[in-house]
Amino acid sequence: MRIILIGPPGAGKGTQAASIKAEYGIAHISTGDILRENVRNSTKLGLSAKSYMDAGKLVPDGLIIEMVGERLAAPDCKDGFLLDGFPRTPQQAEALDMILQKMSMVMNAVALLEISDEEVLRRLTSRRVCTSCGEIYNVITRPVKTEGVCDICGGKVIRRDDDDESIIRSRLNIYHEQTAPLIQYYDKKQLLKRVDATGPKDAVLKLLNAMRSNG
Ligand code: AP5
Repeated sequence: MRIILIGPPGAGKGTQAASIKAEYGIAHISTGDILRENVRNSTKLGLSAKSYMDAGKLVPDGLIIEMVGERLAAPDCKDGFLLDGFPRTPQQAEALDMILQKMSMVMNAVALLEISDEEVLRRLTSRRVCTSCGEIYNVITRPVKTEGVCDICGGKVIRRDDDDESIIRSRLNIYHEQTAPLIQYYDKKQLLKRVDATGPKDAVLKLLNAMRSNG
């Protein structure tokens, strides 16, 4: 199974990805997570990406395409993968098509998580994440048992720097301007599946299971 998750910041891409990864056992490739790890480790890529991420802007296509190309060549992607946060621009989508063509692979589905800007603001201003295992929490709907400590691994739970209200608004504007054109791109390829992102946290998994049972 090869799937793309598209949706605005806070739509629940990371949350939905967790249940898909658990059931299908496929590689979960989150460009945001890879970039944040590079920033934490002060790699060359991390140092180049940090100022864009802090401002809620997209990291330049060239850096992202090279990073994803390398990741997709890894052995754990041979039997399927889930792309979360990539592609995010028409240039990235075209580059992905070329990478897949070279690997003689096709995508099975592109799930579009639909949600209003108001709900995104509500979710992201109350989101918390574990810096060790990446578990996603929410102070309103899914708080940790002990303040600042991950229920799963005991790691440090923080608010992401880019979950500041003015930065969230900037990320939303960028989504509408630069990523939303991909909806038509994948609709034309008959890959697009629309999902209500305010529904259950395993809505995309259910959709994929239904696709699998229908052959
Ligand atoms: P990235 O990490 O990809 O951030 P994003 O797309 O803005 O998405 P988020 O991680 O904020 O949200 P999500 O949709 O995963 O929601 P979540 O599951 O956490 O990118 C960060 C930055 O990296 C970018 O700004 C950019 O600078 C750079 N970058 C990354 N990829 C790039 C690319 N391809 N090109 C260029 N630059 C790139 O859920 C949010 C909250 O909602 C949580 O609290 C959760 O508990 C709650 N929630 C989720 N689902 C539900 C539900 N169904 N019901 C109720 N609550 C829910």
